[in-house]
Amino acid sequence: MNLVEVQFEPVGKVVFVSPGTTVLAAAEAAGVEIPCGCRRGMCGTDAVRVEPAEALAPSADPERSTLERMGLDDGFRLSCSTRVERGVVRVQLGQF
Ligand code: FES
Repeated sequence: MNLVEVQFEPVGKVVFVSPGTTVLAAAEAAGVEIPCGCRRGMCGTDAVRVEPAEALAPSADPERSTLERMGLDDGFRLSCSTRVERGVVRVQLGQF
C-alpha cells in the first residue's frame, strides 16, 4: 500500500499515513494541533485549507452541508471528515 504524504504549513511538519486516514488523525500523528469539536462534520471548528482535491476523498454530508452553511470556498475542508487518498496533501493551518 502506498502511503500518503501529508504536509502541514506553516509549521513545516510532515507525516506519512495510510490512504483513508482523516486529516485530523494525520495531524494528531504529526503532533500538530487542529482545534476540533464534534469530530463528526457538524460543528465546523476544524476547517482547514487543503489541496489538491484529487488527493482527497470527495466531501459528503454532513461535511458538505456544514461547509456550505459556513460559506467557505472549495479550498476548505473539515479535518475530521476529510480522508486522504493518494500522493501529497498540503494542509494550510490558520487560514480560517
Ligand atoms: S470537529 Fe466538528 S466538524 Fe470536525
